[in-house]
Amino acid sequence: MIKISPSILSADFANLGRDIARIESADYVHVDVMDGLFVPNISIGIPVVKSIRPTTQLPLDVHLMIEKPVRYVEQFCDAGADIVTCHVESDTEENIHAALAKIHAKGKKAGVVVKPKTPASAVLPFLNEVEMILVMTVEPGFGGQKFMADMMPKVAQIRQYIDAMNPTCELEVDGGVDPVTCKVCIANGANVLVAGSAVYKAENIPARIAELRG
Ligand code: DX5
Ligand code: ZN
Repeated sequence: MIKISPSILSADFANLGRDIARIESADYVHVDVMDGLFVPNISIGIPVVKSIRPTTQLPLDVHLMIEKPVRYVEQFCDAGADIVTCHVESDTEENIHAALAKIHAKGKKAGVVVKPKTPASAVLPFLNEVEMILVMTVEPGFGGQKFMADMMPKVAQIRQYIDAMNPTCELEVDGGVDPVTCKVCIANGANVLVAGSAVYKAENIPARIAELRG
């Protein structure tokens, strides 16, 4: 089954509780955390995760676009994150392993993320210790960008790695996913689709979430 993780980056931050209630037919709530260093934008952080935690039953899928996430992963887990993903480009391999171990020690699911220019093979050192791999289909930092179809061979390659080495691992894509581009993501092996603008700009959000399942 294809899962949908709407990104609240496209929600109205003055009405976050209302906008999270609007996506209750989805599978996860995608929370984009940006520090202004790893990406050229600043979004939301630990207090917001804590505030939204009691407003929904859905798991919080927290995408950390921050330098050296090992410094903060435990605080995100304590704030209520259920899945925490860290970019492989955001620290040394050793420190990414340490971040994943800290997330697991908190009883939460851990994942790694790759930016568009990062090859599929960059996930291999982490493949056996993650519950999710996230492939960016835009440069991280902003919602509403154009889908990069040239990331599809990477999605297919990582799907092969997962099937061979860690078949329960989820494969998520993020950026520019809409009712058209969702199809090629699913065809290449993604099973979790993040969508920000495609969900929040829809007139009928539950219908759009159903449409994105392919
Ligand atoms: C980009 C974020 C995405 C973004 C997706 O850095 O990681 O989650 O919100 O937004 P759309 O679906 O509008 O491309
Ligand atoms: Zn994201």
